[in-house]
Parts: sequence; C-alpha cells; structure tokens
Amino acid sequence: MKNGTEKASTAREGRDRNRSGDSRSRREFLRGLALGAAAAMFATFPAPRYASAEEKGGSKVLIVYFSHSGNTRRLAELIHERTGGRMAELRTVTPYPQEYDAVVEMAKKEQKSNARPPLAAPVSIPAEARTIFIGYPNWWGTFPMPVFTFLETHDLGDRTVIPFCTHEGSRFGRSERDLRRLCPRARILKGFEVRGSRVGQARGDVETWLREIGMVNAG
Ligand SMILES: Cc1cc2nc3c(=O)[nH]c(=O)nc-3n(C[C@H](O)[C@H](O)[C@H](O)COP(=O)(O)O)c2cc1C
Repeated sequence: MKNGTEKASTAREGRDRNRSGDSRSRREFLRGLALGAAAAMFATFPAPRYASAEEKGGSKVLIVYFSHSGNTRRLAELIHERTGGRMAELRTVTPYPQEYDAVVEMAKKEQKSNARPPLAAPVSIPAEARTIFIGYPNWWGTFPMPVFTFLETHDLGDRTVIPFCTHEGSRFGRSERDLRRLCPRARILKGFEVRGSRVGQARGDVETWLREIGMVNAG
C-alpha cells in the first residue's frame, strides 16, 4: 500500500495534469514513483466493419464508469468504440469539487468513514446485458466510494464483469480484490489499467486487450 506522501504526490499529479498538464508537477510526480514500462506505441486499427458500435453491442454490453476529470471517460469511450453497447456514467447527488485540494480532502474523508455517496440516478441493467465493464480512477488505492455505492446497490449476479482503471502509478491498487468481494458470483475477466496521462495513446493497447479477452474479433 502506498504511504501518505506517495499517495499525496500521486493524487497531486492527477490534479496537475488534469488542470493544465503542468510539466513541473509531472516531474515531481515521476520522481515519487518508479517509471512504468515504455510508452505504448500509437497504433491504428481498421475501422470496425459493423455499421455502428452501439448497434454491434446492442444491449448485451454495458459500460459503467465513474470519472472525475475525464480520463476514465475517455478510456470508456475507446472501449465503447470497439465493443458497442451502452454507456452509463455514475454521478453523485453531491458533485465532487473540481478544485484539487477540495476533492482530495473529500475523497479522503469518504474513504476514512467508509461512506457510500448516493448516486444521482440508479443505473438500469438490462437482463440481456451479460457483460459489464466497470471503469474508475484509482482514488487512494481503490475505487472512488461511489463505485462501492453502485456495486452494493446493483446486483451484477453471474454476469461477466471487466474492470478498467486509470491512475497515476498505483495501477489497480486493491480495487480488483474489492471487486471480487462485491461481485462474488461474477465471472471477472482480466482488466485494463493505464496512466490517466496516457489514455490518449492507449488505443492500440485497448484493442490488444479486448482481443485477448475475446471481446472483439481479430481482423
Ligand atoms: C482524490 C484522488 C485520489 C487519487 N489517488 C490516487 C492513487 O492512490 N494512486 C494513483 O495512482 N492515482 C491516484 N489519483 C490520480 C487519478 O487516479 C488519475 O488522475 C486518474 O486518471 C483520474 O481519472 P479521471 O480523470 O477519470 O477522474 C488520485 C486522484 C484523485 C483526485
């Protein structure tokens, strides 16, 4: 588990990049974390052969995600382009502040008190949605608390559940363990994680992963 300083540095990086891409803060952040693998090569893939992504996935695929500053949303969109289906963004009744220190403070308090922030609207999960992607940023080592709210108030049953996560160094943290605990009957497939600052270059890796787990066909 990350110590307080590293967490704070990690979280600060999320803020700084999201606000202005400030390079000084990025350097600070990188000093605090081991550098990951070399950046994924940007790769292009042929356009899907089906008429539209939505049409392809129909209601069999549901992509549920929480995103505070847009990285996880962009990743959800990359997945959706290839799998089709429906997307559902988790929003809380009380929105998180945009200001970095405020969101960090709020998220920290929520985690400490094991809060379940109410969702602004329940997510409708069609019976025929057999595959559910669940996306989130790593906040203090696991999902943001609204994802706990979602998983505890929506029974995913024995569906196939696939996590995806953006972060600034902690990867999935303990979120996969939390997911297994909250969805004990689900078939959980290998997830995908990427630094939030690299989502823009992740298209190729997303494609490779989706093929690997059988969510899109090769070619
Ligand atoms: C409150 C808060 C806590 C965070 N905690 C971590 C963390 O523990 N580890 C990590 O790698 N990144 C952490 N980050 C960085 C975010 O996971 C990262 O910026 C992510 O891409 C943000 O996704 P979003 O744009 O979809 O909200 C944190 C960010 C915030 C705002």
